[in-house]
Amino acid sequence: MTATIAPGVRFYPGYLDRPAQEALREAVGAVVRAAPLFVPRMPRSGKPMSVQMTNCGPLGWVTDEARGYRYQTTHPETGVPWPPIPEIILKAWRELADYPDPPQACLINFYSAEARMGLHQDKDEQALAAPVVSLSLGDTALFRVGGLKRSDPTRSIRLASGDAVVLGGEGRLAFHGVDRILPGTSTLLPEGGRINLTLRRVSPPE
Ligand code: SIN
Ligand code: FE2
Repeated sequence: MTATIAPGVRFYPGYLDRPAQEALREAVGAVVRAAPLFVPRMPRSGKPMSVQMTNCGPLGWVTDEARGYRYQTTHPETGVPWPPIPEIILKAWRELADYPDPPQACLINFYSAEARMGLHQDKDEQALAAPVVSLSLGDTALFRVGGLKRSDPTRSIRLASGDAVVLGGEGRLAFHGVDRILPGTSTLLPEGGRINLTLRRVSPPE
């Protein structure tokens, strides 16, 4: 089953079955061993976000007080290039993105029980013809999605482990965020919490 939850925003509940979720969990673990989680900081204020992050792919999204939101080829703390995007993640892009070129960045967000993410647009990419593909693992999130203006009406859906969301077309710049995590709703991650992966194309094809 798939559903359109806002113009251009498609929801694929149960996209990954349990074995695929376990395989993705292991792939994310390998990425984190190569590229440790870091605490992203807001531009100018330096206020820490409540999620921890890492990336895989040729580019990774980072943010800090001095230089703000950006993509870069290396980890902000280790200086090492991001590890490649695991095949299981590339497969999800091929199946869901309807876009000819592979993703350049896979941002991985770790949510503890208290973490959240304010309403925002993903607009640090130039390749807006490519969608953002989102995969969720672990505890369920209350995900909020609206329109192209912050003041547009929003709706809230529960993103459970294995669910996918695609923001494409007129939904590519839809405001979205995570209001809260529902602790204890999944057994996938032994320590609890939630992992969200977002696959992005940053620059248009040559
Ligand atoms: C994000 O917007 O980067 C994350 C969305 C989510 O956690 O579902
Ligand atoms: Fe986002």
